[in-house]
Amino acid sequence: MKYTLIKKDGRAKRAEVTTVHGTIQTPVFMNVGTVAAIKGAVSTDDLREIKTQVQLSNTYHLHVRTGDKLIRQFGGLHQFMNWDRPILTDSGGFQVFSLTGLRKIKEEGVYFQSHIDGHKIFMGPEESMQIQSNLGSTIAMAFDECPPHPATREYMQNSVDRTTRWLERCRTEMARLNSLPETINKEQLLFGINQGGTYEDIRIAHAKTISAMDLDGYALGGLAVGESHFEMYRILDETVPYLPENKPTYLMGVGTPANILEAVDRGVDFFDCVYPSRNGRHGHVYTNKGKLNLFNSRFELDAKPIEEGCQCPACRSYSRAYIRHLLKAKEMLGMRLCVLHNLYFYNTMMEEIRDAIDNQCYGEYKERKLAGMTEAQS
Ligand code: GUN
Ligand code: ZN
Repeated sequence: MKYTLIKKDGRAKRAEVTTVHGTIQTPVFMNVGTVAAIKGAVSTDDLREIKTQVQLSNTYHLHVRTGDKLIRQFGGLHQFMNWDRPILTDSGGFQVFSLTGLRKIKEEGVYFQSHIDGHKIFMGPEESMQIQSNLGSTIAMAFDECPPHPATREYMQNSVDRTTRWLERCRTEMARLNSLPETINKEQLLFGINQGGTYEDIRIAHAKTISAMDLDGYALGGLAVGESHFEMYRILDETVPYLPENKPTYLMGVGTPANILEAVDRGVDFFDCVYPSRNGRHGHVYTNKGKLNLFNSRFELDAKPIEEGCQCPACRSYSRAYIRHLLKAKEMLGMRLCVLHNLYFYNTMMEEIRDAIDNQCYGEYKERKLAGMTEAQS
């Protein structure tokens, strides 16, 4: 991997990341495809059309269904789903912790039950790396605990210390797997994950510890889990300066367009979030003047596209009124068009963000974009 910092505008970073599966222009938004699919009947041809750079999938979900060993037999996730650009896999940590019901965290890893059939599963750092190696993703995430919010200081410190020990084990196992002749992607990258909740001193100490481990990239986890946006921005202000500037900085699970604009301004350059696809499936679509609910009767006779001038597959061909009709009739095409538009909206915003940093006018761009989106929100 090669990370080239092209330009900075304040703390905003504009970079290029070269991987074995091609180059990523950052800041970048990664589409969430939990089970190697974007929910809403979106194909890999669609992904290319809506300017997707990186596709994200989940270790845990692919492990319990259909199984990473089966996917490995197909030559890995890239071949299985016919996607030749970068793929990032989340480690399973977060997904396991968001499961309700039985789960037990021990030093060796986590014991829990499958959400599909309830059978008992164990996943620790080594298992997570082995599964991600079988999937052959471009970027593997370290196995971490995403602590609940709020958590006591004592809980947080113990959890973060364990996450650090798990990270050491991830690194050792990843190095071993990458050296095996039968490994699908021998250059699989490993990103570490910073934790610490809203305790800035724990965050900073952890950031320093993991930065010294010389990983391929660094994520901020345990954010957007119930704390306020103000607190999240404060944690970014305090923590990002302790992560290496010449490596990817990834804010996991974030967020709204406004969250992304603010986080870029604080040095973050990788993002992922379910919002555009989830909102699209519910007929909520993003525009430069805020979000619209296409179920609203005011769109019944609206012949305009979702967003005037948008070049996405929905806006090029269909009116708000027709898409509203499809949604009301529960036709899959309705959802699909909304999801495509929303992902295109996010990816286009990331393009604008990169242009603004290139042209050294990021602050101005951010203010203009934010003002436009809130203007019609009321
Ligand atoms: N996705 C969103 N937050 C997190 C986190 O803290 N850890 C992991 N592994 N994934 C996440
Ligand atoms: Zn559109």
